[in-house]
Amino acid sequence: EDKKCFICNSEDPFHDTLNPDSHRIENVVTTFDPNRLKLWWQSENGLENVTIQLNLEAEFHFTHLIMTFKTFRPAAMLIERSSDFGKTWQVYRYFAYDCESSFPGISTGPMKKVDDIICDSRYSDIEPSTEGEVIYRVLDPAFRIEDPYSPRIQNLLKITNLRVKFVKLHTLGDNLLDSRMEIREKYYYAIYDMVVRGNCFCYGHASECAPVDGFDEEVEGMVHGHCMCRHNTKGLNCEQCLDFYHDLPWRPAEGRNSNACKKCNCNGHSSQCHFDMAVYMTTGNASGGVCDDCQHNTVGRNCEQCKPFYFQHPERDLRDPDVCEPCNCDPAGSQNGGICDRYTDFSTGLIAGQCRCKLFVEGERCDLCKEGFYGLSADDPAGCQSCACNPLGTHPGGNPCDSETGNCYCKRLVTGKQCSHGLPEHWGLSNDMDGCRPCDCDQGGALNN
Ligand SMILES: *[C@@H]1O[C@H](CO)[C@@H](O)[C@H](O)[C@H]1NC(C)=O
Ligand SMILES: *[C@@H]1O[C@H](CO)[C@@H](O)[C@H](O)[C@H]1NC(C)=O
Repeated sequence: EDKKCFICNSEDPFHDTLNPDSHRIENVVTTFDPNRLKLWWQSENGLENVTIQLNLEAEFHFTHLIMTFKTFRPAAMLIERSSDFGKTWQVYRYFAYDCESSFPGISTGPMKKVDDIICDSRYSDIEPSTEGEVIYRVLDPAFRIEDPYSPRIQNLLKITNLRVKFVKLHTLGDNLLDSRMEIREKYYYAIYDMVVRGNCFCYGHASECAPVDGFDEEVEGMVHGHCMCRHNTKGLNCEQCLDFYHDLPWRPAEGRNSNACKKCNCNGHSSQCHFDMAVYMTTGNASGGVCDDCQHNTVGRNCEQCKPFYFQHPERDLRDPDVCEPCNCDPAGSQNGGICDRYTDFSTGLIAGQCRCKLFVEGERCDLCKEGFYGLSADDPAGCQSCACNPLGTHPGGNPCDSETGNCYCKRLVTGKQCSHGLPEHWGLSNDMDGCRPCDCDQGGALNN
């Protein structure tokens, strides 16, 4: 019985028990087992285009990758990453024995900038035939990084997925298009170890990371992705501000500068807020938090004002739940339907709670017609109308008419709503004390008095 060659099928559920030395992908995880070279991953024979993809539980800062091959290293391959959980991909680097033919148009270097994408020929040689390595460092040590916290560098390091695409086998002069089995079966990719190094990616807002929810198995050497956030941040990668900490825009920490998220100031009248860039810029980048849903009859981006029809009690603290009191103005006699001054400001003449009366109205509540006016009415833009009494028929000084009915108060011998004519048997409306004079007709000659 020849045990040397046999069919491997990694999709076979019994595979592991039948072949403990199987060639499944988990074998590439590095162990320090002295027998580690007994385990490897192996691709399907004769297949050139093969992909290995590593999906991470969160965003990570990737630093380098080392692959140790059991067979010849690939004649051409590339390393790609995604930083949005696989939606888009970007190439980190191409590797080829013959860059020109495998990846036409890709520069073969040397790199001028740390994020240049090049094709590297160093790791694609046919030698050695086993244990050859492919090494990729995101930040090439040849470059001095001025500012490791710059967005450009941070973005370069950020990954959620890593993908290695093998595109060409070294075939030692055989042509894979030759479909004879014995040719095809000779070639495949095989990897002993794949070391991926990096750290959890917390934008500088955490100093340690824990397993994400639902994963609490401790695996030696495994780096977890759930940042233990500080600086008032939250999220797997501390990529957001905590609720109610939106006074400043979220930003990554930069060196010693924590760029911590800042609590909103809602004066105790709200527990929700959001960040508004326009507000932030109008404050000279001092504060951009806008309180949502202000309670206790307050309004304003800090819930710092009383809403219309309420005024700020002058002796209460702004944070007092009872700081805003309802205005006490008669809507019929007040301007704007009864809105009072919301706060006291001597420079503009505002007095908290003060009602503002219509033209012919007075009183603390604006509920009284001024002297000489009557008929308080919400429909009247001036609030009350003039008594319109005849000055000859009324006494000078004092209120000339009834403030509700508008009936004028007449001199003794005068009558009429406006006191404009004499009582019966009186005549000659004038400035006299009694307003008119008796007719004084001669009883002998007149038909009546
Ligand atoms: C491998 O992929 C490349 C590029 O996607 C393609 O041009 C080539 O034909 C593929 N090779 C095979 C054998 O399918
Ligand atoms: C304020 O912040 C905005 C957005 O971050 C920025 O574009 C602007 O230059 C800053 N202005 C000042 C005065 O710092």
